[in-house]
Amino acid sequence: MFSVPMKICIIGTGYVGLVTGACLAEIGHEVICVDNAPEKIKMLNSGQMPIYEPGLEELVKKNALAGRLKFTSSTKDGVERSDIIFIAVPTPAQPDGSVDLSFIDRVSQEIAELLTRYKIIIDKSVVPVGTGDKVAETIRRYCKSKVAFDVVSNPEFMREGYAVNDFLHPDRIVLGVQSQRPVHALKEIYAPLNANIIVTDINSAELIKHASNSFLALKVAYINAISVICEETGANIEEVAQGMGLDKRIGKDFLNASLGFGGSCFPKELSTFIRIAEERGYDFGLLREVQRINAQQMERFVRKIADTLWVIKDKTIGILGLAFKQNTDDVRLSPAVALCQRLRKEGAHLRVYDPKAMNKAKMVLKEVTFVGDMNQVADGCDALVVATEWPEFKKLDLEYARERMTHPILFDGRNLFDPKKMEDLGFIYKSIGR
Ligand code: UGA
Repeated sequence: MFSVPMKICIIGTGYVGLVTGACLAEIGHEVICVDNAPEKIKMLNSGQMPIYEPGLEELVKKNALAGRLKFTSSTKDGVERSDIIFIAVPTPAQPDGSVDLSFIDRVSQEIAELLTRYKIIIDKSVVPVGTGDKVAETIRRYCKSKVAFDVVSNPEFMREGYAVNDFLHPDRIVLGVQSQRPVHALKEIYAPLNANIIVTDINSAELIKHASNSFLALKVAYINAISVICEETGANIEEVAQGMGLDKRIGKDFLNASLGFGGSCFPKELSTFIRIAEERGYDFGLLREVQRINAQQMERFVRKIADTLWVIKDKTIGILGLAFKQNTDDVRLSPAVALCQRLRKEGAHLRVYDPKAMNKAKMVLKEVTFVGDMNQVADGCDALVVATEWPEFKKLDLEYARERMTHPILFDGRNLFDPKKMEDLGFIYKSIGR
């Protein structure tokens, strides 16, 4: 059918679309990325990245230069040139826990109207189970000629901050298909990665995504719940997590206790999955508990600050980290931003810093002082808070910070520092679960 290099179109140049496009070009395919925001296409064509993702800029520049990666704002141009079309448009969460699928719907209609020969349409957006079938139905309905096509679900498991590496070295690739016809071409696309590929039906592929993300969120909530018991019993969460993680059946990843998880995926995925289950008559109470534990973890952290500072109003607090985790400039549903908003509401004055997320945070955080250097954050502060696990925070000049603060108090929401060392340095130091 189609031969290598594959002619691929990616619709949507967000985190998933742009990384997918750049990486597919990197493994030799001819890729054209489409976005309906012309200013984004202009940026990309001039080698500027709309997001911060380690390694992405180099990959985009290299493959654009080699002529394997192109950008356009014309869906028509992208679809007509390609045999394989990835849909990677946003699927924003709505307040009631449902997902806005209007972008997917619109793109499916556009693709249908442009279909003149057999193509494979691959869904890479994060979608509720059942979406693949709806995409196929929509394309069939809006396609004027009776052209054959296949719709495939190919969920993405990359993590922000590690997306390029995760894409190029995946634990597995999941392909959900309605028929066997596209399987050979799909395997060819990913052949250079030498990855484990599993082929399932479409609904199973979509469910693998919900089930994996929810399980990881559950794992973080579980270790956070254990951290509470550690605090109450005088145990140490790091030792407990290490002891658990050495059991291969449990695994050591995602056992870092924190002030809670955030980001654009876990919170949305939990709400979606709970709702999907509910619509089918199953009360997924386990996942509602995960949400509750996560919210409670933030509350406990705020209480820890309040218990130590007594009154938060008019205290000056330095916040290290605004991104929802290290290695990204993404502040969507960031626990660090939520903490800032909460402390502002209590009347605190905030001095904040993040190595990459300051610009994005400026759009959501008002009435805080953005500080350009992490070592200056402590100036005049009654307390410091570590809210994101950026590795550079470990290099903070703690002695300097201690001298510049009104009181040397540090709340560590990511367990970056050693409690003994912090006490030796004269800090009142409070972390998570130890
Ligand atoms: C998550 C999944 O890990 C990816 O596999 C998936 O592709 C992605 O969602 C998605 O659905 O698009 P991501 O949201 O980028 O990736 O970030 P994670 O590294 O999973 O972290 C999520 C949150 O959990 C962060 O706030 C992080 O700080 C927190 N976390 C993670 C902890 O508090 N402790 C841990 O041990 C691990």
